[in-house]
Amino acid sequence: MNITLKFAIIGTGSISEIHAAAIHALPNANLTAICSSSPQRAKLAEEKFGVAAYTNYNLMMDEEKPDVVCICTKSGDHLEPTLAAAARGIHVLSEKPLEINLERAEKMINACKAAKVKLGCVFQNRFSNHFKIVKKAVDEGKLGKLLMGNAYIKWFRESNYYQNSNWRGTLQGDGGAALINQGIHTIDLLLNLFGEVKTVFGEVRTMTHAIEGEDVGAAMLSFENGAMGTIQGSTAFYPGYPEKLEIFGEKGSIMLEGGKISTWNVQGCPNPLAENSEPTKSGAADPMNISNELHIAQFQDFISAIQNNKEPLVNGEEGTKALKLILAIYESSKSKKLVSINQ
Ligand SMILES: NC(=O)c1ccc[n+]([C@@H]2O[C@H](COP(=O)([O-])OP(=O)(O)OC[C@H]3O[C@@H](n4cnc5c(N)ncnc54)[C@H](O)[C@@H]3O)[C@@H](O)[C@H]2O)c1
Repeated sequence: MNITLKFAIIGTGSISEIHAAAIHALPNANLTAICSSSPQRAKLAEEKFGVAAYTNYNLMMDEEKPDVVCICTKSGDHLEPTLAAAARGIHVLSEKPLEINLERAEKMINACKAAKVKLGCVFQNRFSNHFKIVKKAVDEGKLGKLLMGNAYIKWFRESNYYQNSNWRGTLQGDGGAALINQGIHTIDLLLNLFGEVKTVFGEVRTMTHAIEGEDVGAAMLSFENGAMGTIQGSTAFYPGYPEKLEIFGEKGSIMLEGGKISTWNVQGCPNPLAENSEPTKSGAADPMNISNELHIAQFQDFISAIQNNKEPLVNGEEGTKALKLILAIYESSKSKKLVSINQ
């Protein structure tokens, strides 16, 4: 089955443009409608995207009958549109994080399962060629036993990034700040390589921005597979540095910087991308320095999951893993205790 799927976008902020661009780039996807709760933003989006605009997503879904809705609302507002879509048999591709807490994320997963619709969570960096090469090497055991994995997201956001938004950095809208919004991408990749975390000790602080969530955080991890790990995340480190992922195994080490393999020292296994010089993009200092390409790849995977009735690469459960760890870091910071995951 290879029919063109009708897409609609709910939420018309900055990331909706990348979703619209990804849909336009795919031959088997067609953007038919968009929705913003504000009439003014809906009108602007109608002009920008050239499709029907609504201010009520229930009405939009009833009238336009899309096959898929993209959830691009603030992070604490992903659940309700997902429930509305699932109730109508519409597939859901939600932006990260799936939601701001596990209860709300699980409701999304359960509703989509009960309605037999696909649920995907956008973690576009899983689709980068550099990451896929690293994942293959790790999964094939090229690094031997894994020893340590580190995710460093030392980014910077000006104060107006938070001041100009009614949800970023708030507990209700964002669920926190630097880790749950920015760091989550690299934390997701770390978990995808190292697997389940057994225990975590973390601390988060709000050090420079006038926000409820954290702008500096650190955590020490103990993985189920015996490896150790650390996380350092921030939106307060001027001027912002490309995020880093370090993987140390008994047979070598690999590092990714700004999504690109920057170091590859693996015994008996040369870097498959040696001399690769393709430019890399990172939101280190600019939130919108995101390439469309990775979203396109994830949308293609999601469409293929619908057409072939299989699970998307990043389904609801996969989309919840990094969220769960970040919430455990928050819990550890609050209790000042080591937190056991899955207990
Ligand atoms: N995958 C990525 O790399 C990436 C990048 C940026 C954002 N995101 C995610 O996308 C989602 C949206 O982020 P954004 O940067 O586009 O946000 P944004 O603030 O630019 O837009 C969010 C949209 O939500 C709606 N909205 C905002 N405030 C509202 C309110 N008070 N009432 C009703 N509706 C309201 C509006 O339609 C608004 O346009 C978030 O979950 C974010 O984490 C993902």
